[in-house]
Amino acid sequence: MSWFDTARFGLFIHWSHSSQKGLEVSWPLVGGIPPVLDCGDVPVDEYHSTAATFDPQSWDAGSLARRARDLGMQYAVLTTKHHDGYAMFHTKQSSGSQPPFSIEQSPFGRDIVREYADAMREEGIRVGFYFSLIDWHHPDYPAFTEADKPYTFGKWRQPESPQAWERYIDFMFAQVRELLTDYSQIDVIWFDGHWERTPEQWKAQELEEMVRSLQPEILINDRLPGAGDFETPEQFVPPQPLEGPWETCMTIGKLWGYDPRDTDRKSARQLIHTLCEVAGRGGNLLLNVGPMGDGSLPPAIIERLDEIERWMSANKEAVVGTQAGLEPWQFYGPSTRSGDRVYLHLLMRPYESVSVRGVHVKRLRSVRALSTGEALTFDTRTAIVDLVNPDPLGEVTIQVPEKVIDPSATVLALEFAEQPFAN
Ligand code: GLC
Repeated sequence: MSWFDTARFGLFIHWSHSSQKGLEVSWPLVGGIPPVLDCGDVPVDEYHSTAATFDPQSWDAGSLARRARDLGMQYAVLTTKHHDGYAMFHTKQSSGSQPPFSIEQSPFGRDIVREYADAMREEGIRVGFYFSLIDWHHPDYPAFTEADKPYTFGKWRQPESPQAWERYIDFMFAQVRELLTDYSQIDVIWFDGHWERTPEQWKAQELEEMVRSLQPEILINDRLPGAGDFETPEQFVPPQPLEGPWETCMTIGKLWGYDPRDTDRKSARQLIHTLCEVAGRGGNLLLNVGPMGDGSLPPAIIERLDEIERWMSANKEAVVGTQAGLEPWQFYGPSTRSGDRVYLHLLMRPYESVSVRGVHVKRLRSVRALSTGEALTFDTRTAIVDLVNPDPLGEVTIQVPEKVIDPSATVLALEFAEQPFAN
């Protein structure tokens, strides 16, 4: 058992200097992968040029960490370096003959990764680092050029020579070593970009060994080939609960980074429903936000976070720290469980009552609407022959009055004297 198994809710933060121009992180420089990732096509040099002016004066790691805490989030993952190769931390590793490509060389100069890690830890939130194996800026990778467009799967330019690749691997390992040495305890390393090279080229096994030796408690995602402590379905809820630990990462709009044109956003209610569904399947939701170029969050994102925060302030116990609930045919929506409690998540408005089956009805002590605390009336039924059974499994029908309906999702808490159902 690890903290991750019941964490349920985390914050993903995609941010780079490109956010100044309202450009998705990294992808515009390769022209995106339309229609899957439609983020425009920006000349490579123009994309990288805004590194020189990055100065996010409104960045406030403390307020972001308090926000995550108030949302009931248990961990966070920040892009320390995305595919564009820009380090959001102070790195001593230089790309070829150039100085290090990092926030330290910007007008801002401060170490964003350090401020983030310290602030999250301060609020009791586990610290995760996203790190891209790909580096479209490093000459030995080799850097992506205009001539390499359009970005085509399987057609990536290979390194110039085995020596160049060795140099890149040394550089990349050294950056990972910096991140896992200079920032105290790191709880998650979230690799990405593995698809462009083979596990052998990445030296994946060696990299995993180094990571685990530097941070023995760390969890590594499945995007470092062979290493996965957890799986990372992207932008969807898996149709079946996955066998091991897993986390769905999801954007609010269509893109990861801040882009003002990215206005087709999920509503707060949809996001809350996704959180309930993920929790009901025993997974975690890593909800993504993209700060703007000044470091603050866009108003449309804040609006959604506010509503999720309101909902979580009343319903957090039905999500965080829970396990997956009943088998899907016992109730017509997600359910979770914590000890002797079962939580029924109503993602559709009930007509007058709801029924749940497969529970030890004689052990049922009370049913409450979680957010209002209101006790709800219920009755139970089992087979006639079970009347003489001291502890039958049966069904419960609960009256749900209009006044307990929450505008986003209503949770019913069923308190049992002991174990509500088998397993
Ligand atoms: C991707 C994308 C990316 C994003 C990530 C998050 O595969 O390359 O931009 O960072 O997944 O899951």
